[in-house]
Amino acid sequence: MRFFARSLLTSLVLALPAVFVHAEPNAHEPSAGRQQQLVRMVRQDCGSCHGMKLTGGLGPALTPEAIGHWPEENLTAVIYQGRPGTPMPGWRGMLTENEAAWIASRLRAGFPHEE
Ligand code: HEC
Repeated sequence: MRFFARSLLTSLVLALPAVFVHAEPNAHEPSAGRQQQLVRMVRQDCGSCHGMKLTGGLGPALTPEAIGHWPEENLTAVIYQGRPGTPMPGWRGMLTENEAAWIASRLRAGFPHEE
């Protein structure tokens, strides 16, 4: 019984850091205010090339149908670094890599509209 209590205590102590890690905000979720800015930026700045509805223009469509099969990492890299030799610019001066990853994951899921 005593052994059981001790191992229970040990596993609780071991589990605690995991609880705290999970309580932290998701690393891929910018703050609500920043998310609004990012949505506006994608709709306006990215939309100037990819179409106001992101269905394509000078740049290809960024809809889930068009890019949903891409791994998020590839999309993040294109957004963050751009695609050399094409008009697709890198956005590293405007975004953190984490924010680029957030945009990539939202594009794959269907990009939100401005509020
Ligand atoms: C100056 C025009 C321009 C702007 C502004 C622009 N893009 Fe692009 N983007 C392109 C072009 C052109 C391509 C296709 C490049 C190629 O030929 O491979 C592209 C490719 C992409 C791709 C890869 C899609 C695919 O199917 O190859 C993603 C993702 C993307 N852009 C996201 C964005 C996001 C997000 C923004 C805003 C933060 C943005 N783009 C702003 C022109 C632009």
